[in-house]
Amino acid sequence: MNKMKRSTAALTALVMIICTLASCGQSGNAGNNGEKKADGGYTIDNIRDCVIGLDEKMELGNGSKMAVTNFDNAATTPALQPVADEVNEELKKYGSIGRGTSPKSTHSTEVYNETKEKVIDFVGADHEKYTVFYVNNTTDGLNKLASAMIEDKSDLVLTTRIEHHSNDLPWRELGTVIYAEVDDQGRVIYDEIEKQLQNNKVKFVSVTAASNVTGYVTDVHRVAKLAHKYGAKIIVDGAQIVAHRKFSMLGEDGPDDDIDFFVFSAHKMYSPYGGGAVVGLTDDLMGHMPKFYGGGTIRIVGDDWVEYADPPKSYEAGSPNYPGIVGLGKAIDVLEEIGFDNIEAHEKALNRKLVDGLLKIDNSIVYGDTEETSIRSLWRSSWLMNTASPPDAEPSAPTRMCGDSTDCRTRR
Ligand SMILES: Cc1ncc(COP(=O)(O)O)c(C=O)c1O
Repeated sequence: MNKMKRSTAALTALVMIICTLASCGQSGNAGNNGEKKADGGYTIDNIRDCVIGLDEKMELGNGSKMAVTNFDNAATTPALQPVADEVNEELKKYGSIGRGTSPKSTHSTEVYNETKEKVIDFVGADHEKYTVFYVNNTTDGLNKLASAMIEDKSDLVLTTRIEHHSNDLPWRELGTVIYAEVDDQGRVIYDEIEKQLQNNKVKFVSVTAASNVTGYVTDVHRVAKLAHKYGAKIIVDGAQIVAHRKFSMLGEDGPDDDIDFFVFSAHKMYSPYGGGAVVGLTDDLMGHMPKFYGGGTIRIVGDDWVEYADPPKSYEAGSPNYPGIVGLGKAIDVLEEIGFDNIEAHEKALNRKLVDGLLKIDNSIVYGDTEETSIRSLWRSSWLMNTASPPDAEPSAPTRMCGDSTDCRTRR
């Protein structure tokens, strides 16, 4: 059951603060040497020391400077020192990717290819059936898929009411989107999805693996089963899941509940160098290509004809973002070394503390599932509260929550 605390007081100003508790980066006092602990590697207990910028003093509106508490890892995550170190190290050996035979070019091309294999393992996909192509971020990946797969406005895409705009607008612009309603806690109603699939000829079902607002985790394998039953393909927006849960594209009853396409960003997993990936069924990517043309995409070109390459090349126009790729690979290594079970348990404990505190504050509304019994939550909270206070009043609730020595990073 969910609890919701509402104020009846008049609200003169509202600030929405979205808080995501990730494995590190909750407050700004850690040392920042970034050194890997000699005994035992990266763990949930020592990773905070590797978060870059926790101590960095930022100028506030009143001219003072202080370390800033980041309460919005849902938007983006800070860099980890080992990720930055790996990028800097690799830049010494950087050469053109897939476009040369020099030792640097050969080395960078190897890293580029090996990281794709790592990504396939990271999302539990099958190397024989799936292809990875790099993108700038989740938004770019979803746009590229839409550009490649949607033929015209008659193509129907089913999505839900909890999607990020990035998993709505690309489909809306090129095809036609229909929505499955969610319940009053923002949870997917699977019967609604089936109803829409029964009543419409849907080409793609595109859903988020986890809500960026409430942290609700969608049972995407259940959605996959429904989509496949009605002849649709499933695309999963993985932006919010990758730093928090072990995700597998392969379901338990495969291939019925396997995920066909998975899209995610590296900057949401402690590698803010740009970059991300789409992992998709090779057979489905074949024969399509996004409307991005140029170097890297072709097999052979004549004056008045072009033969394009197969995926992934046909999906990766232009030179790739090497720091983004290196950072992504290292972020995967570090997250896996910490262990997703440990990350989940840590987030759960932090979120319990946060929600209990929020529920005691007047004028606050906590959204989503606030009970610990649900497994379908990323243990994150969004809340809304009244921050209007006269100049001589007690500090506002967010100020009290963040403490005197720090400023909170909030989302309007
Ligand atoms: C669920 C979800 N999907 C997509 C995106 C877009 O991600 P990006 O900005 O990395 O493209 C976000 C970003 O917050 C998100 O939370």
